[in-house]
Amino acid sequence: MCRPDHFDVTYAINPWMDTGAAVNRALALAQWDALRIAYEVRGHRVEMIEPVAGLPDMVFAANGGLAIGDRALSARFANPERAEEGPAYHDWMAAQRFTTVARARETNEGEGDFAIAPGRILAGTGFRSARDSHQEVAEYFGLPVVSLDLVDPRFYHLDTALMVLDDTIAYYPAAFSGPSARLLASLYPDAILATEADANVLGLNGVCDGYHVFLTDQAVDLAEQLRARGYEPVGIDLSELLKSGGSVKCCTMEWHAVRTAAGSGTD
Ligand code: ARG
Repeated sequence: MCRPDHFDVTYAINPWMDTGAAVNRALALAQWDALRIAYEVRGHRVEMIEPVAGLPDMVFAANGGLAIGDRALSARFANPERAEEGPAYHDWMAAQRFTTVARARETNEGEGDFAIAPGRILAGTGFRSARDSHQEVAEYFGLPVVSLDLVDPRFYHLDTALMVLDDTIAYYPAAFSGPSARLLASLYPDAILATEADANVLGLNGVCDGYHVFLTDQAVDLAEQLRARGYEPVGIDLSELLKSGGSVKCCTMEWHAVRTAAGSGTD
């Protein structure tokens, strides 16, 4: 995670961002800290990257890259406003316990567009990560990648429209092209389908540890659906970060275990 010390909305690269809106950084910091604590009290170790002045979106650590097993791939951002975050996340990754760390060759916004699921990686394209980045990720990690087309600018990253839950997923079908939505329906017949209202508060931008699901406290129906499936939703108020188009998952880069098939985690 990256403390929102320099968080602001000084440019608009997605429809959520309004440069005229006032941002309360102290509140953003308090909300972000509540998320960090929510992870820690449930047994998750949180590591921090040092925030860099002049990079107001660096708080969205999910975009910094991908980390699976002993390999990490640092991001290459689509927008010049965020370009400098790539090297910052790369240097941080290079100082961790990975055996191999590389920089993405193709435009790749990390976990924003790549969702690590058992046995495969689901990958988004259309607004940020290039389609060619999907092949690069498949080769680099040696895992099958399923390409999905995002069609609604409000859901510009895959992680705004889809969340991995253990062996299934939750998603908002209208964020995807017809063929991509049909592909998801065939791969995950038992998926949770989010309502438009829940998608619109970035309810799908959550993190599941197999039991807890950390997500915005505004996604009420989704929390109910999760509870009905036996998950424990943990609602977090990240209203200040929503002004930049981000929520729980955006603030979190996960270090994934290698999972070749359903239920075969190795950590
Ligand atoms: N303002 C940021 C951007 O538009 C928000 C990024 C949110 N991150 C995410 N993983 N969806 O790039």
